[in-house]
Amino acid sequence: MAKKVYIETVGCQMNVLDSELVIGALRRDGYEIAAEAADADLVLFNTCSVREHAEEKVYSALGRVIPLKRKRPETIVGVLGCMAQKDQELIRKRAPHVDLVIGTGQLARVSELAARARETRQPQYALSLGRAEAGRHEVEASFVSFDPIRDASMRPTPFQAFVRVQIGCDKFCTYCVVPSTRGPEQSRPPEHILAEVRQLVQQGCKEVTLIGQTVNSYEFERGDGRRTRLSDLLSQMHDVAGLERIKFVTNFPKDMTDDLLDAVRDLPKVMKYLHVPAQSGCDDVLKRMKRLYSVAEYREMLDRCRQRVPGVAISSDFIVGFCGESEASFAKTIDLVRDAKFKNSFIFKYSERPGTKASEKFTDDIPDEVKKRRNNDLLAVQNANSMADHRAQIGKTVEVLVEGPSKRALASGNSNGIVQFTGRAMTDHIVVFDGAERLAGRTVEVHIDDASAFTLYGRVVTTGFANEPVAVRLGDADEAPAYPAPLDHAPPREEKRIGLPLA
Ligand code: 5AD
Ligand code: SF4
Repeated sequence: MAKKVYIETVGCQMNVLDSELVIGALRRDGYEIAAEAADADLVLFNTCSVREHAEEKVYSALGRVIPLKRKRPETIVGVLGCMAQKDQELIRKRAPHVDLVIGTGQLARVSELAARARETRQPQYALSLGRAEAGRHEVEASFVSFDPIRDASMRPTPFQAFVRVQIGCDKFCTYCVVPSTRGPEQSRPPEHILAEVRQLVQQGCKEVTLIGQTVNSYEFERGDGRRTRLSDLLSQMHDVAGLERIKFVTNFPKDMTDDLLDAVRDLPKVMKYLHVPAQSGCDDVLKRMKRLYSVAEYREMLDRCRQRVPGVAISSDFIVGFCGESEASFAKTIDLVRDAKFKNSFIFKYSERPGTKASEKFTDDIPDEVKKRRNNDLLAVQNANSMADHRAQIGKTVEVLVEGPSKRALASGNSNGIVQFTGRAMTDHIVVFDGAERLAGRTVEVHIDDASAFTLYGRVVTTGFANEPVAVRLGDADEAPAYPAPLDHAPPREEKRIGLPLA
Protein backbone atom coordinates (compact mmCIF):
# COMPACT_ATOMS: atom_id res chain seq x y z
CA MET A 1 0.00 0.00 0.00
CA ALA A 2 1.20 3.52 -0.80
CA LYS A 3 2.71 5.44 2.09
CA LYS A 4 0.86 8.53 3.26
CA VAL A 5 2.25 11.94 4.19
CA TYR A 6 0.69 14.69 6.29
CA ILE A 7 2.18 18.19 6.49
CA GLU A 8 1.52 21.32 8.55
CA THR A 9 3.11 24.61 7.55
CA VAL A 10 3.72 27.75 9.58
CA GLY A 11 5.35 30.96 8.42
CA CYS A 12 5.98 32.92 5.26
CA GLN A 13 5.48 32.36 1.53
CA MET A 14 8.92 30.71 1.32
CA ASN A 15 7.62 28.01 3.64
CA VAL A 16 4.38 27.61 1.69
CA LEU A 17 6.45 27.09 -1.46
CA ASP A 18 8.86 24.71 0.30
CA SER A 19 5.94 22.59 1.53
CA GLU A 20 4.45 22.49 -1.97
CA LEU A 21 7.78 21.30 -3.35
CA VAL A 22 8.42 18.72 -0.61
CA ILE A 23 4.95 17.22 -1.08
CA GLY A 24 5.34 17.27 -4.89
CA ALA A 25 8.64 15.34 -4.59
CA LEU A 26 7.15 12.83 -2.12
CA ARG A 27 4.21 12.21 -4.45
CA ARG A 28 6.62 11.46 -7.25
CA ASP A 29 8.16 8.90 -4.91
CA GLY A 30 4.77 7.22 -4.52
CA TYR A 31 3.38 8.92 -1.38
CA GLU A 32 -0.28 9.85 -1.12
CA ILE A 33 -1.62 12.73 0.94
CA ALA A 34 -3.27 12.09 4.29
CA ALA A 35 -5.89 14.53 5.56
CA GLU A 36 -4.95 13.87 9.19
CA ALA A 37 -1.75 13.05 11.04
CA ALA A 38 -3.41 9.91 12.48
CA ASP A 39 -3.69 8.41 8.95
CA ALA A 40 -0.11 9.19 7.90
CA ASP A 41 3.12 7.17 7.80
CA LEU A 42 5.11 10.40 7.59
CA VAL A 43 4.07 13.47 9.63
CA LEU A 44 5.93 16.69 8.74
CA PHE A 45 6.01 20.13 10.31
CA ASN A 46 7.48 22.91 8.17
CA THR A 47 8.50 25.51 10.71
CA CYS A 48 9.17 29.22 11.23
CA SER A 49 11.54 30.90 13.71
CA VAL A 50 10.82 34.58 13.04
CA ARG A 51 8.90 34.99 16.30
CA GLU A 52 8.82 32.85 19.46
CA HIS A 53 5.08 32.32 19.14
CA ALA A 54 5.54 30.44 15.83
CA GLU A 55 8.04 28.09 17.46
CA GLU A 56 5.79 27.41 20.46
CA LYS A 57 2.98 26.46 18.05
CA VAL A 58 5.25 23.80 16.55
CA TYR A 59 6.29 22.41 19.95
CA SER A 60 2.59 22.06 20.92
CA ALA A 61 1.86 20.33 17.61
CA LEU A 62 4.80 17.99 18.25
CA GLY A 63 3.34 17.27 21.70
CA ARG A 64 0.04 16.32 20.08
CA VAL A 65 1.67 13.58 17.98
CA ILE A 66 3.18 11.78 21.00
CA PRO A 67 0.10 9.52 21.52
CA LEU A 68 0.13 8.73 17.81
CA LYS A 69 3.80 7.80 17.92
CA ARG A 70 3.14 5.58 20.97
CA LYS A 71 0.32 3.78 19.19
CA ARG A 72 2.21 3.42 15.88
CA PRO A 73 5.94 3.77 16.58
CA GLU A 74 6.70 3.21 12.88
CA THR A 75 5.17 6.64 12.07
CA ILE A 76 8.02 8.97 11.08
CA VAL A 77 7.80 12.50 12.54
CA GLY A 78 9.84 15.24 10.87
CA VAL A 79 10.68 18.87 11.64
CA LEU A 80 11.61 20.82 8.50
CA GLY A 81 12.72 24.37 7.76
CA CYS A 82 13.90 27.28 9.89
CA MET A 83 13.54 25.75 13.37
CA ALA A 84 15.32 22.62 12.21
CA GLN A 85 18.26 24.63 10.88
CA LYS A 86 18.45 26.83 13.97
CA ASP A 87 17.61 24.53 16.89
CA GLN A 88 18.49 20.91 16.13
CA GLU A 89 19.79 20.28 19.68
CA LEU A 90 16.80 21.88 21.34
CA ILE A 91 14.37 19.88 19.21
CA ARG A 92 16.20 16.70 20.21
CA LYS A 93 15.78 17.73 23.88
CA ARG A 94 12.23 19.06 23.83
CA ALA A 95 10.80 16.51 21.40
CA PRO A 96 12.89 13.32 21.54
CA HIS A 97 10.24 11.44 19.51
CA VAL A 98 11.18 13.42 16.37
CA ASP A 99 12.82 11.22 13.70
CA LEU A 100 13.82 13.80 11.07
CA VAL A 101 15.35 17.27 11.48
CA ILE A 102 15.92 18.79 8.03
CA GLY A 103 16.98 22.41 7.45
CA THR A 104 15.79 24.84 4.77
CA GLY A 105 18.77 24.07 2.54
CA GLN A 106 18.37 20.27 2.61
CA LEU A 107 14.70 19.75 1.75
CA ALA A 108 15.48 17.66 -1.34
CA ARG A 109 16.49 14.85 1.04
CA VAL A 110 13.16 14.38 2.88
CA SER A 111 12.12 11.20 1.03
CA GLU A 112 15.54 9.55 1.28
CA LEU A 113 15.93 10.36 4.98
CA ALA A 114 12.38 9.25 5.84
CA ALA A 115 13.17 5.88 4.25
CA ARG A 116 16.45 5.67 6.14
CA ALA A 117 14.77 6.52 9.48
CA ARG A 118 12.18 3.82 8.80
CA GLU A 119 14.86 1.24 8.01
CA THR A 120 17.36 2.06 10.73
CA ARG A 121 14.92 3.30 13.41
CA GLN A 122 17.51 6.01 14.05
CA PRO A 123 16.84 9.77 13.88
CA GLN A 124 18.19 11.48 10.75
CA TYR A 125 19.58 15.02 10.57
CA ALA A 126 20.35 17.11 7.49
CA LEU A 127 21.49 20.65 8.11
CA SER A 128 23.43 23.30 6.26
CA LEU A 129 26.51 25.01 7.67
CA GLY A 130 26.14 27.92 10.10
CA ARG A 131 27.17 31.35 8.76
CA ALA A 132 30.41 31.35 10.77
CA GLU A 133 31.24 27.65 10.34
CA ALA A 134 33.12 27.94 7.04
CA GLY A 135 34.00 30.32 4.20
CA ARG A 136 31.22 31.97 2.21
CA HIS A 137 31.39 29.58 -0.75
CA GLU A 138 31.21 26.49 1.40
CA VAL A 139 28.27 27.87 3.40
CA GLU A 140 26.51 28.88 0.17
CA ALA A 141 27.02 25.42 -1.30
CA SER A 142 25.48 23.82 1.80
CA PHE A 143 22.17 25.67 1.20
CA VAL A 144 20.77 23.98 -1.88
CA SER A 145 18.01 25.83 -3.73
CA PHE A 146 15.24 23.23 -3.87
CA ASP A 147 13.13 23.91 -6.96
CA PRO A 148 12.18 20.65 -8.66
CA ILE A 149 9.44 20.09 -11.22
CA ARG A 150 6.23 21.84 -10.17
CA ASP A 151 3.03 19.97 -9.43
CA ALA A 152 -0.11 22.08 -9.99
CA SER A 153 -2.26 19.93 -7.72
CA MET A 154 -0.19 20.99 -4.71
CA ARG A 155 -1.18 24.67 -4.80
CA PRO A 156 -4.20 26.42 -3.27
CA THR A 157 -5.15 27.42 -6.84
CA PRO A 158 -3.69 26.01 -10.07
CA PHE A 159 -3.53 29.46 -11.68
CA GLN A 160 -1.31 31.11 -9.05
CA ALA A 161 2.20 30.09 -8.03
CA PHE A 162 5.19 31.28 -6.05
CA VAL A 163 8.53 31.20 -7.82
CA ARG A 164 11.75 31.55 -5.87
CA VAL A 165 14.23 33.94 -7.42
CA GLN A 166 16.62 34.19 -4.51
CA ILE A 167 17.46 32.26 -1.36
CA GLY A 168 18.92 33.57 1.90
CA CYS A 169 19.63 37.07 3.14
CA ASP A 170 22.76 39.16 3.71
CA LYS A 171 21.22 42.17 5.47
CA PHE A 172 21.56 40.92 9.04
CA CYS A 173 18.95 43.18 10.62
CA THR A 174 19.79 42.76 14.30
CA TYR A 175 16.39 41.30 15.33
CA CYS A 176 16.14 38.72 12.56
CA VAL A 177 16.96 35.00 12.36
CA VAL A 178 16.58 34.65 8.59
CA PRO A 179 20.25 35.18 7.61
CA SER A 180 21.11 32.16 9.79
CA THR A 181 18.11 29.96 9.05
CA ARG A 182 18.16 30.52 5.27
CA GLY A 183 21.85 31.18 4.75
CA PRO A 184 23.70 33.58 2.42
CA GLU A 185 21.84 35.54 -0.24
CA GLN A 186 22.06 33.71 -3.59
CA SER A 187 20.18 34.61 -6.77
CA ARG A 188 19.01 31.82 -9.06
CA PRO A 189 20.10 31.89 -12.71
CA PRO A 190 17.47 33.72 -14.80
CA GLU A 191 17.19 30.85 -17.29
CA HIS A 192 16.17 28.47 -14.47
CA ILE A 193 13.54 30.92 -13.26
CA LEU A 194 12.19 31.51 -16.78
CA ALA A 195 12.06 27.77 -17.52
CA GLU A 196 10.08 27.27 -14.30
CA VAL A 197 7.68 30.06 -15.19
CA ARG A 198 7.13 28.63 -18.70
CA GLN A 199 6.43 25.23 -17.20
CA LEU A 200 3.95 26.76 -14.73
CA VAL A 201 2.17 28.60 -17.55
CA GLN A 202 1.88 25.34 -19.49
CA GLN A 203 0.16 23.90 -16.42
CA GLY A 204 -2.39 26.74 -16.52
CA CYS A 205 -0.72 29.23 -14.21
CA LYS A 206 -1.63 32.88 -14.87
CA GLU A 207 -0.07 34.74 -11.96
CA VAL A 208 3.40 34.23 -10.52
CA THR A 209 4.69 35.81 -7.34
CA LEU A 210 8.46 36.04 -7.37
CA ILE A 211 9.77 35.56 -3.86
CA GLY A 212 13.02 36.44 -2.12
CA GLN A 213 13.78 37.87 1.34
CA THR A 214 15.07 41.03 -0.35
CA VAL A 215 13.72 40.32 -3.82
CA ASN A 216 14.71 43.70 -5.26
CA SER A 217 18.37 43.01 -4.55
CA TYR A 218 18.13 40.07 -6.99
CA GLU A 219 21.15 40.11 -9.25
CA PHE A 220 22.68 37.26 -11.21
CA GLU A 221 26.21 37.73 -12.48
CA ARG A 222 27.72 35.55 -15.19
CA GLY A 223 31.37 34.60 -15.50
CA ASP A 224 31.86 37.25 -18.19
CA GLY A 225 30.52 39.98 -15.87
CA ARG A 226 27.07 40.36 -17.53
CA ARG A 227 24.41 41.01 -14.92
CA THR A 228 20.67 40.36 -14.77
CA ARG A 229 18.80 42.62 -12.34
CA LEU A 230 15.22 42.11 -11.16
CA SER A 231 14.06 44.69 -13.73
CA ASP A 232 15.73 42.64 -16.53
CA LEU A 233 14.16 39.45 -15.23
CA LEU A 234 10.71 41.10 -15.16
CA SER A 235 11.00 42.25 -18.75
CA GLN A 236 12.17 38.81 -19.93
CA MET A 237 9.33 37.18 -18.02
CA HIS A 238 6.87 39.63 -19.47
CA ASP A 239 7.36 37.99 -22.89
CA VAL A 240 6.10 34.59 -21.68
CA ALA A 241 2.83 34.10 -23.58
CA GLY A 242 -0.10 33.09 -21.40
CA LEU A 243 1.33 34.64 -18.25
CA GLU A 244 -1.01 37.43 -17.11
CA ARG A 245 0.35 38.80 -13.85
CA ILE A 246 3.70 39.13 -12.13
CA LYS A 247 4.13 40.24 -8.53
CA PHE A 248 7.27 40.26 -6.36
CA VAL A 249 7.87 40.31 -2.59
CA THR A 250 9.59 41.40 -0.26
CA ASN A 251 11.52 44.58 -1.07
CA PHE A 252 14.33 46.14 0.91
CA PRO A 253 13.92 49.97 0.97
CA LYS A 254 17.53 50.77 0.07
CA ASP A 255 17.49 48.54 -3.01
CA MET A 256 14.44 50.15 -4.63
CA THR A 257 16.20 51.33 -7.79
CA ASP A 258 14.73 53.49 -10.55
CA ASP A 259 15.21 50.80 -13.23
CA LEU A 260 12.95 48.51 -11.16
CA LEU A 261 10.30 51.19 -10.65
CA ASP A 262 10.34 51.94 -14.39
CA ALA A 263 9.84 48.24 -15.14
CA VAL A 264 6.85 48.16 -12.75
CA ARG A 265 5.39 51.22 -14.49
CA ASP A 266 6.05 50.13 -18.09
CA LEU A 267 5.30 46.40 -18.06
CA PRO A 268 1.53 45.92 -18.09
CA LYS A 269 1.66 42.42 -16.59
CA VAL A 270 3.57 43.61 -13.50
CA MET A 271 1.22 44.43 -10.62
CA LYS A 272 1.29 48.02 -9.45
CA TYR A 273 2.04 47.00 -5.91
CA LEU A 274 5.16 47.19 -3.73
CA HIS A 275 5.65 45.67 -0.30
CA VAL A 276 8.52 47.63 1.29
CA PRO A 277 8.86 47.09 5.05
CA ALA A 278 9.93 50.19 7.03
CA GLN A 279 10.02 48.45 10.48
CA SER A 280 10.22 51.77 12.42
CA GLY A 281 9.76 55.51 11.98
CA CYS A 282 12.58 56.47 14.36
CA ASP A 283 16.22 56.85 13.26
CA ASP A 284 17.68 55.63 16.58
CA VAL A 285 15.60 52.47 16.42
CA LEU A 286 16.44 51.91 12.73
CA LYS A 287 20.11 52.23 13.61
CA ARG A 288 19.83 49.65 16.40
CA MET A 289 17.92 47.41 13.98
CA LYS A 290 20.76 47.97 11.45
CA ARG A 291 18.26 48.68 8.69
CA LEU A 292 20.82 50.79 6.74
CA TYR A 293 18.48 53.74 5.98
CA SER A 294 17.10 56.77 7.81
CA VAL A 295 13.44 57.74 8.05
CA ALA A 296 14.10 60.64 5.65
CA GLU A 297 15.57 58.20 3.11
CA TYR A 298 12.60 55.88 3.49
CA ARG A 299 10.18 58.77 2.95
CA GLU A 300 12.18 59.88 -0.10
CA MET A 301 11.98 56.34 -1.47
CA LEU A 302 8.18 56.35 -1.02
CA ASP A 303 7.90 59.64 -2.91
CA ARG A 304 10.07 58.28 -5.70
CA CYS A 305 7.92 55.11 -5.99
CA ARG A 306 4.75 57.20 -6.25
CA GLN A 307 6.24 59.67 -8.72
CA ARG A 308 7.66 57.02 -11.03
CA VAL A 309 4.73 54.57 -10.79
CA PRO A 310 1.50 56.60 -10.71
CA GLY A 311 -1.25 54.81 -8.78
CA VAL A 312 1.10 52.30 -7.15
CA ALA A 313 -0.14 50.73 -3.90
CA ILE A 314 2.47 50.33 -1.17
CA SER A 315 2.38 48.19 1.97
CA SER A 316 4.79 47.83 4.87
CA ASP A 317 5.84 45.88 7.96
CA PHE A 318 6.53 47.35 11.42
CA ILE A 319 7.99 45.97 14.62
CA VAL A 320 6.76 47.65 17.81
CA GLY A 321 8.48 47.48 21.20
CA PHE A 322 11.98 46.90 19.84
CA CYS A 323 14.76 47.28 22.45
CA GLY A 324 14.94 50.84 23.77
CA GLU A 325 11.87 52.08 21.82
CA SER A 326 10.74 55.05 23.94
CA GLU A 327 7.30 56.68 23.73
CA ALA A 328 8.96 59.44 21.69
CA SER A 329 10.46 56.89 19.25
CA PHE A 330 7.10 55.16 18.92
CA ALA A 331 5.39 58.51 18.25
CA LYS A 332 7.70 58.90 15.24
CA THR A 333 6.53 55.53 13.91
CA ILE A 334 2.93 56.72 14.32
CA ASP A 335 3.87 59.83 12.31
CA LEU A 336 5.41 57.77 9.52
CA VAL A 337 2.38 55.48 9.26
CA ARG A 338 0.01 58.44 9.32
CA ASP A 339 1.89 60.21 6.52
CA ALA A 340 2.90 57.26 4.36
CA LYS A 341 -0.64 56.21 3.36
CA PHE A 342 0.20 52.53 3.05
CA LYS A 343 -2.48 50.31 1.54
CA ASN A 344 -1.92 48.08 4.57
CA SER A 345 0.74 47.28 7.15
CA PHE A 346 1.66 44.14 8.98
CA ILE A 347 2.49 45.01 12.59
CA PHE A 348 4.44 42.71 14.92
CA LYS A 349 5.43 42.89 18.58
CA TYR A 350 9.19 42.50 18.92
CA SER A 351 10.12 38.95 19.83
CA GLU A 352 13.68 38.42 21.04
CA ARG A 353 15.40 35.66 19.07
CA PRO A 354 18.37 33.91 20.66
CA GLY A 355 21.46 34.04 18.48
CA THR A 356 20.62 37.41 16.88
CA LYS A 357 22.75 40.52 17.36
CA ALA A 358 19.87 42.29 19.13
CA SER A 359 19.61 39.54 21.73
CA GLU A 360 23.38 39.78 22.36
CA LYS A 361 23.66 43.57 22.44
CA PHE A 362 20.36 44.99 23.70
CA THR A 363 17.84 44.31 26.44
CA ASP A 364 14.29 43.37 25.48
CA ASP A 365 13.12 46.12 27.82
CA ILE A 366 9.61 46.97 26.63
CA PRO A 367 6.94 45.16 28.70
CA ASP A 368 4.47 43.04 26.78
CA GLU A 369 1.47 45.25 27.74
CA VAL A 370 3.27 48.23 26.23
CA LYS A 371 4.04 46.27 23.05
CA LYS A 372 0.36 45.29 22.84
CA ARG A 373 -0.81 48.86 23.33
CA ARG A 374 1.59 50.19 20.70
CA ASN A 375 0.53 47.44 18.32
CA ASN A 376 -3.14 48.46 18.73
CA ASP A 377 -2.39 52.18 18.47
CA LEU A 378 -0.38 51.75 15.27
CA LEU A 379 -3.02 49.47 13.81
CA ALA A 380 -5.71 52.09 14.49
CA VAL A 381 -3.75 54.71 12.52
CA GLN A 382 -3.11 52.24 9.70
CA ASN A 383 -6.76 51.13 9.60
CA ALA A 384 -7.94 54.71 9.25
CA ASN A 385 -5.60 55.11 6.27
CA SER A 386 -6.62 51.74 4.79
CA MET A 387 -10.24 52.83 5.06
CA ALA A 388 -9.49 56.09 3.23
CA ASP A 389 -7.44 54.25 0.60
CA HIS A 390 -10.23 51.71 0.04
CA ARG A 391 -12.91 54.37 0.02
CA ALA A 392 -11.02 56.18 -2.75
CA GLN A 393 -11.51 53.09 -4.93
CA ILE A 394 -15.33 53.32 -4.78
CA GLY A 395 -16.70 54.11 -8.24
CA LYS A 396 -13.65 52.71 -10.06
CA THR A 397 -13.70 49.65 -12.28
CA VAL A 398 -10.78 47.34 -11.57
CA GLU A 399 -9.37 44.23 -13.21
CA VAL A 400 -9.65 41.27 -10.83
CA LEU A 401 -8.02 37.86 -11.08
CA VAL A 402 -10.68 35.66 -9.48
CA GLU A 403 -9.13 33.36 -6.91
CA GLY A 404 -12.13 31.35 -5.76
CA PRO A 405 -15.11 31.39 -3.41
CA SER A 406 -14.65 33.59 -0.36
CA LYS A 407 -14.37 31.96 3.07
CA ARG A 408 -17.96 32.98 3.75
CA ALA A 409 -19.16 31.25 0.57
CA LEU A 410 -17.24 28.09 1.45
CA ALA A 411 -18.67 28.12 4.98
CA SER A 412 -22.27 28.59 3.79
CA GLY A 413 -22.02 25.77 1.23
CA ASN A 414 -24.43 27.66 -1.04
CA SER A 415 -24.88 25.85 -4.35
CA ASN A 416 -27.49 27.82 -6.29
CA GLY A 417 -24.81 28.80 -8.80
CA ILE A 418 -24.23 32.28 -7.36
CA VAL A 419 -21.28 32.48 -5.07
CA GLN A 420 -19.40 35.20 -3.27
CA PHE A 421 -15.95 35.31 -4.86
CA THR A 422 -12.68 36.79 -3.81
CA GLY A 423 -9.82 37.99 -5.97
CA ARG A 424 -7.21 40.72 -6.25
CA ALA A 425 -6.96 43.90 -8.29
CA MET A 426 -3.70 44.85 -10.08
CA THR A 427 -2.89 46.96 -6.99
CA ASP A 428 -3.26 43.86 -4.77
CA HIS A 429 -6.49 45.12 -3.19
CA ILE A 430 -8.78 42.29 -2.12
CA VAL A 431 -12.06 42.44 -4.04
CA VAL A 432 -15.20 40.50 -3.11
CA PHE A 433 -18.19 40.15 -5.46
CA ASP A 434 -20.98 37.77 -6.44
CA GLY A 435 -20.62 35.65 -9.56
CA ALA A 436 -20.98 32.23 -11.16
CA GLU A 437 -18.58 29.54 -10.02
CA ARG A 438 -17.00 29.20 -13.44
CA LEU A 439 -15.22 32.50 -12.85
CA ALA A 440 -12.41 31.04 -10.71
CA GLY A 441 -9.12 31.63 -12.51
CA ARG A 442 -10.58 34.24 -14.87
CA THR A 443 -9.83 37.93 -15.05
CA VAL A 444 -12.97 40.03 -14.75
CA GLU A 445 -13.74 43.72 -14.49
CA VAL A 446 -15.42 44.64 -11.25
CA HIS A 447 -17.09 47.96 -10.46
CA ILE A 448 -16.37 48.92 -6.84
CA ASP A 449 -19.50 49.92 -4.91
CA ASP A 450 -18.45 49.61 -1.31
CA ALA A 451 -15.40 49.28 0.91
CA SER A 452 -14.14 48.28 4.34
CA ALA A 453 -10.64 48.84 5.69
CA PHE A 454 -9.68 45.39 4.39
CA THR A 455 -11.88 44.64 1.40
CA LEU A 456 -13.45 46.21 -1.67
CA TYR A 457 -16.96 45.07 -2.63
CA GLY A 458 -18.27 45.27 -6.16
CA ARG A 459 -20.11 43.71 -9.07
CA VAL A 460 -18.87 42.17 -12.28
CA VAL A 461 -19.02 44.50 -15.25
CA THR A 462 -17.53 42.19 -17.89
CA THR A 463 -15.76 38.85 -17.78
CA GLY A 464 -12.91 40.42 -19.69
CA PHE A 465 -13.50 38.02 -22.58
CA ALA A 466 -15.01 39.39 -25.77
CA ASN A 467 -18.56 38.25 -26.60
CA GLU A 468 -18.98 36.27 -23.44
CA PRO A 469 -22.28 36.87 -21.61
CA VAL A 470 -21.99 37.96 -17.99
CA ALA A 471 -25.22 36.30 -16.92
CA VAL A 472 -24.95 33.85 -14.07
CA ARG A 473 -25.74 30.34 -15.28
CA LEU A 474 -27.59 28.34 -12.71
CA GLY A 475 -26.36 24.78 -12.39
CA ASP A 476 -22.70 25.62 -12.94
CA ALA A 477 -21.92 24.66 -9.38
CA ASP A 478 -21.27 21.00 -10.09
CA GLU A 479 -18.83 21.67 -12.92
CA ALA A 480 -16.65 24.08 -11.00
CA PRO A 481 -13.60 22.96 -9.07
CA ALA A 482 -13.89 23.82 -5.36
CA TYR A 483 -10.66 25.63 -4.60
CA PRO A 484 -9.88 26.32 -0.98
CA ALA A 485 -9.72 30.02 -0.11
CA PRO A 486 -6.17 31.26 -0.63
CA LEU A 487 -4.14 31.45 2.56
CA ASP A 488 -4.32 35.09 3.54
CA HIS A 489 -6.94 36.32 1.13
CA ALA A 490 -10.19 35.90 2.98
CA PRO A 491 -11.57 39.10 4.46
CA PRO A 492 -11.18 39.41 8.23
CA ARG A 493 -14.23 38.45 10.23
CA GLU A 494 -15.03 41.74 11.90
CA GLU A 495 -15.24 44.57 9.47
CA LYS A 496 -17.09 47.83 9.32
CA ARG A 497 -18.54 48.37 5.86
CA ILE A 498 -18.65 51.88 4.48
CA GLY A 499 -19.94 53.49 1.33
CA LEU A 500 -22.86 52.28 -0.75
CA PRO A 501 -24.70 49.12 0.26
CA LEU A 502 -24.26 46.18 -2.10
CA ALA A 503 -27.00 45.79 -4.70
N1 5AD B 1 10.21 40.04 16.17
C1 5AD B 1 9.10 40.56 15.62
N2 5AD B 1 8.91 40.69 14.29
C2 5AD B 1 9.91 40.28 13.48
N3 5AD B 1 10.04 40.30 12.14
C3 5AD B 1 11.24 39.77 11.82
N4 5AD B 1 11.91 39.42 12.93
C4 5AD B 1 11.10 39.74 13.99
C5 5AD B 1 11.25 39.63 15.40
N5 5AD B 1 12.35 39.14 15.96
C6 5AD B 1 9.01 40.85 11.25
C7 5AD B 1 9.56 41.97 10.36
C8 5AD B 1 9.61 41.32 9.00
C9 5AD B 1 8.45 40.36 9.09
C10 5AD B 1 8.45 39.26 8.10
O1 5AD B 1 8.55 39.83 10.39
O2 5AD B 1 8.63 43.03 10.36
O3 5AD B 1 9.47 42.25 7.94
FE1 SF4 C 1 15.46 39.56 8.10
FE2 SF4 C 1 16.33 42.03 7.50
FE3 SF4 C 1 16.88 39.95 5.86
FE4 SF4 C 1 14.38 40.90 6.00
S1 SF4 C 1 16.17 42.03 5.26
S2 SF4 C 1 15.02 38.71 6.06
S3 SF4 C 1 14.22 41.49 8.16
S4 SF4 C 1 17.62 40.22 7.97
